[in-house]
Amino acid sequence: MTQTASQASGNQGRIFSGVQPTGNLHLGNYLGAIKNWVALQNDFDCIYCVVDLHAITVPQVPDQLRQSIREVTACLIASGIDPEKSVLFNQSAVPHHAELGWIFNCVARLGWLNRMTQFKEKAGKNRENATVGLYSYPTLMAADILVYKATHVPVGDDQKQHLELTRDIAVAFNSMFETELFPTPEPLIQKTAARVMSLRDGNSKMSKSDTSDATRINLTDSAEEIARKIKKAKTDPEPLPETIELLEARAEARNLVGIYAGLAGCSQEDVLTEFGGRGFGEFKPKLADLAVEVIAPISTEMNRLLADHGAIDAVLASGAEQAAALSEPVLSEVKAVMGLKG
Ligand code: TYM
Repeated sequence: MTQTASQASGNQGRIFSGVQPTGNLHLGNYLGAIKNWVALQNDFDCIYCVVDLHAITVPQVPDQLRQSIREVTACLIASGIDPEKSVLFNQSAVPHHAELGWIFNCVARLGWLNRMTQFKEKAGKNRENATVGLYSYPTLMAADILVYKATHVPVGDDQKQHLELTRDIAVAFNSMFETELFPTPEPLIQKTAARVMSLRDGNSKMSKSDTSDATRINLTDSAEEIARKIKKAKTDPEPLPETIELLEARAEARNLVGIYAGLAGCSQEDVLTEFGGRGFGEFKPKLADLAVEVIAPISTEMNRLLADHGAIDAVLASGAEQAAALSEPVLSEVKAVMGLKG
């Protein structure tokens, strides 16, 4: 079951979520996940993680990875994640994730992993050459969440299947060892912009790995780049419709309306009330202005933070210490239940 943040805020709970340090964060990451992470930190106990062990499931250049970990951390802080309120760290600095990940490799079944669509997409035709890590990626993701007994996981729509697997692993573990040790975490998926699509193809997801930079708005793009990419974004010749139903079959128009709603913090209906009947020549400049208004301060602040590597490393080190203090007792409990410890 998916919930919105406001539905979840009535419960007591712990939030965990992660982002891969592979290249720049883009508007999809921001609207689909990070914006929600920022909002949740006022009401929840939040743990946010730069998942570098997930990044190495595909080849990485060491110096670039080192830089990306800092860039993504700076980008999260610039977006509003406050290390004084939330725990912010990189995954490899807390060994308990990988350790529980191995244990979950011994709980999850091949059949469950064989169903994962993200592996199929990422491995592509050359499956035999994919790493074992890419295949077992979701068991590590389950460990990330469950090693903190997190109850809610704010993610974009593309992570829903991995969250279902996490729940299956939690249930299977509890049943195998006759315990109630793990909660079954709920995904928190935004109503608008849960799946931001490419600016060049309304049927494929905006993604860091797309070879064309014109398909995405990076949180590091300049105001000129943002305006140019929106101007060139694929559309159809019709003006925007007055109702959501009429937007359904128009993938590119739907995407741009969703992006506008996500950036403005309003509903898609509100966007159509304002722009229904108007052409893209009128809508796109307004969208570009709004995108610049939201993103430009993030990119300026990120560059300011990146001038001091020492300060970013200190945030990550302190976050790792706090995270390890939370995960160590859970792993200890797991080992005791399994007979790995006296
Ligand atoms: P990653 O790094 O691909 O993306 C980070 C977050 O951004 C969301 N997202 C999007 N949302 C809307 N539209 C898009 N086009 C879009 N692209 C990305 C993702 O859904 C995600 O929430 N497997 C995860 C990282 C991870 C994780 C975890 C997440 C590892 N362990 C534990 C939650 C809990 C991933 O690759 O996200």
